[in-house]
Amino acid sequence: MGSGPSFPIVPMTRDKIILITGANSGLGYEIAKWSAMMGATVILACRSESKTREAIAKMNQEFQAEKSKETSQLPENTTLALEFMHLDLASFESVTNFCEAFKKSGRKLHVLFCNAGLGWIPFQITADGLEMLLQVNYLSHFVMIAKLLGVMQQSGPDCRILLMSSIMHKRGTFDLKTINYSGPPNDFSSMNYYGRSKLYQIMQAAAMGRRISGSNVTINSIHPGVVDTQFYRDWDTGIRKCLLCCMQFSGMARSSFQGAKCSIDLTVNPKHAGMNGLYWVDCKIVTPSSVARNKQKQEELWETTIGFIRPYLKEEELKRINGEIK
Ligand SMILES: NC(=O)c1ccc[n+]([C@@H]2O[C@H](COP(=O)([O-])OP(=O)(O)OC[C@H]3O[C@@H](n4cnc5c(N)ncnc54)[C@H](OP(=O)(O)O)[C@@H]3O)[C@@H](O)[C@H]2O)c1
Repeated sequence: MGSGPSFPIVPMTRDKIILITGANSGLGYEIAKWSAMMGATVILACRSESKTREAIAKMNQEFQAEKSKETSQLPENTTLALEFMHLDLASFESVTNFCEAFKKSGRKLHVLFCNAGLGWIPFQITADGLEMLLQVNYLSHFVMIAKLLGVMQQSGPDCRILLMSSIMHKRGTFDLKTINYSGPPNDFSSMNYYGRSKLYQIMQAAAMGRRISGSNVTINSIHPGVVDTQFYRDWDTGIRKCLLCCMQFSGMARSSFQGAKCSIDLTVNPKHAGMNGLYWVDCKIVTPSSVARNKQKQEELWETTIGFIRPYLKEEELKRINGEIK
């Protein structure tokens, strides 16, 4: 598997269900492909059907190439079990429809990987009246987790929720009064608000980890490193483009596969069963910023978050996410 952190090939059957948001490109693509190559059924929860169908075709081609290697330890399936489901994280209605459709399918859910995310975008407001990074990166995933937790609680032992966070959480200010940006568009700092959204995910993993502790479900957050993906597509200013080129040429930026290794390990490796409420970098537990670790702030964020999403949750979903039903 190359140098650096790695993951084992863990053969899985098709009744192992892994759901990944933003799985049509970058890190999500690699996590989806490797999970499916090991035998699981992978649901690609994405906003573009055409892009996702292209990604599925490419994953199947890469699977055939990987299988033909003499060293391949992959299970002997003919094709991958990959399925597209529409999800737009910029809309709570889309998240709700997605979760209803998933529940109607009667399937189990063993891994929910909240991977999709936006980065360096100008100030935008969603149809739900929220700043885009806050809703796409954090709040919509939170709603999804609340709505699908009941399914995971009925899916047998060792079910995992994984949140794709970032070391950039250290650049995000913790100020709940300005959590939903409403200042002048030109004063909006996407770096700060991106950092905030990633900080919230680490704090959510800790706060929710406490609530669901002792159940069959765990929640953890991850930083994948600096990874050369579509993520930097909006780095259109000269200085940022220059920085990206430097990262690419200096080898500082990882390939999507290198960046995804820790995430794949946390998705499939049985040795991580029971790990809960933690922040991971390169397959190791790492201490996040002091703000991220602050329990009082985690609880304040939890209350504020529930305030935003309460209208979209049923009473039972709220009880489950609060650890009152396990
Ligand atoms: N790359 C890095 O250096 C780095 C470092 C730390 C953390 N991360 C995190 O890693 C995660 C994956 O990013 P990546 O680097 O793999 O970038 P990427 O290739 O741009 O992937 C992002 C994915 O999120 C999806 N997405 C964006 N908005 C969405 C929405 N409204 N609804 C549903 N899906 C949406 C994108 O879909 P479309 O293809 O349709 O746009 C895409 O599939 C992100 O959460 C990011 O914050 C990345």
